[in-house]
Amino acid sequence: MSKKYQVCYADEIPAGGRLIVDIAGRSVGVFNVNDEYFALRNSCPHKGAPLCGGLLDGMVTGDAPGHAEFERLGEIIRCPWHGWEFDIKTGQSVLNPHKVWVRTYPVSVDADELIPPKVDCAGPDPSIETYAVTAESTNSGKRRLLCVHL
Ligand code: FES
Repeated sequence: MSKKYQVCYADEIPAGGRLIVDIAGRSVGVFNVNDEYFALRNSCPHKGAPLCGGLLDGMVTGDAPGHAEFERLGEIIRCPWHGWEFDIKTGQSVLNPHKVWVRTYPVSVDADELIPPKVDCAGPDPSIETYAVTAESTNSGKRRLLCVHL
């Protein structure tokens, strides 16, 4: 049975971005691909390189000689050590998808999660002059929370 780990707010990873985090002793890359989120183990199955720091790219496909298309831009990650490429959405190798893959993890986005504001437990410092501050939010202080399930 998987366990759910809160990673960050969804808006902290912009489209095309990534965040590499340690979760329960594992390094995991969380990617935003066109506002869909995917998590990948940050370890290349070839020789263990930190895969999730690699270049994000697309792939060339074709159905006949001379007919090539470049597609899936931002969905393929290239290992920084020897260049093996993997599909971020499935973890499958581009070159050998039936035999080589990197571990993926489900990601959930908890809508309308209300996160309490961070509180400074030390209290106010009386030696500092302060001013009233208000914070406005367009969504009543609610932000979507990204969770990875290991
Ligand atoms: S360690 Fe990733 S391709 Fe070699």
